[in-house]
Amino acid sequence: MTPALALEDIDCTFTSREDASLRYTAVRGATLRVAKGEFVSVVGPTGCGKSTLLNVAAGLLRPSAGSVAVFGKPLAGINSRAGYMFQAEALMPWRNTSRTSPRASSSAASPARRRRRGAGIG
Ligand SMILES: Nc1ncnc2c1ncn2[C@@H]1O[C@H](COP(=O)(O)OP(=O)(O)OP(=O)(O)O)[C@@H](O)[C@H]1O
Ligand SMILES: [Mg+2]
Repeated sequence: MTPALALEDIDCTFTSREDASLRYTAVRGATLRVAKGEFVSVVGPTGCGKSTLLNVAAGLLRPSAGSVAVFGKPLAGINSRAGYMFQAEALMPWRNTSRTSPRASSSAASPARRRRRGAGIG
């Protein structure tokens, strides 16, 4: 089946923030295919390129190399099939990860909540 989103061999290279004479490669050779209806999380340490990759998927950033296709069509410009909540607006810095998720914190009887309580979290 044609993926809803296909990122193929993506590179993203920027001018280095530390030294403008240098190039900095934030993402190299990243391939990600997401099927319609599939739920995917991109997880990694800070600075590993998660937001950069999402910016590419949203059409906000053109990759230095590689291709982006949305339902089989090459993406040109903004991805009008994507909804995108920016990191700064979506995060609540005063909360930990488990309490940031509204579903997790509002679902009093959920197994996840019981696990967190058992672990002394939340
Ligand atoms: N426009 C830019 N110019 C120069 N460097 C950039 C630019 N955008 C991102 N970077 C660098 O690319 C790297 C990846 O950044 P990115 O924001 O994608 O990381 P992240 O995985 O989302 O991190 P975090 O978990 O902190 O949100 C970082 O080192 C960042 O400083
Ligand atoms: Mg980020």
